[in-house]
Amino acid sequence: MDQDQLKKAVAAAAIEEVKSAILDGEIIGIGTGSTANQFIDLLAPYRNEIKGTVASSEASAQRLRNHGIEVLDLNSTGDIAVYVDGADESNHRLELIKGGGAALTREKIVAAASARFICIADESKLVDQLGAFPLPVEVIPMARSYVARELVKLGGNPVYREGVVTDNGNIILDVYDFMIATPCKTEERINAITGVVTNGLFALRPADLLLLGTPDGVKRLTA
Ligand code: A5P
Repeated sequence: MDQDQLKKAVAAAAIEEVKSAILDGEIIGIGTGSTANQFIDLLAPYRNEIKGTVASSEASAQRLRNHGIEVLDLNSTGDIAVYVDGADESNHRLELIKGGGAALTREKIVAAASARFICIADESKLVDQLGAFPLPVEVIPMARSYVARELVKLGGNPVYREGVVTDNGNIILDVYDFMIATPCKTEERINAITGVVTNGLFALRPADLLLLGTPDGVKRLTA
């Protein structure tokens, strides 16, 4: 089974998880990235049953609309029943690194507003310790150099992601060489740097369920 097939398998498993919420007329949160795209495509047959979705990026919103699925503004909906999204890394406590697609801030907002967060990923994303994947940090453009110096003081090696502007008009610093022993503390420390919008650690609000694609089938992991 190649990676694409594993992603498709977890996306299909996620559809089974959210089916009752769809039929109950709940709002569904939709993530960003290639695994989330598989999920969006499998949602298409439910377009008439889906009351509404909230998307974590302009790209996902466009893909949903292309399928004829309603996309709502988070400010005009109540809480979201369930949020489905991919990840760049997950540890066994379902703390994540996200933001490889630069959508981390909206992803964090949708996750925060959701009662349940289902992460979908292929088995290559499961790690013992977070940090081999460079940690994305969304930064207000004028604070780029200052924030980079502060990240160096924390022991990281920040690299400006050239040519990328987030949906919120900001830039991304990817922090390399940052093995993260205490994800909640690191998430708080980086968020406390003035000029940081948010960072890609999802430890204060981890996933509730990880659907992991393996050649032996989809595994269900809870913290
Ligand atoms: C987007 O900003 C990310 O958080 C994605 O969820 C993450 O990069 C996973 O993407 P893939 O599903 O493409 O691996």
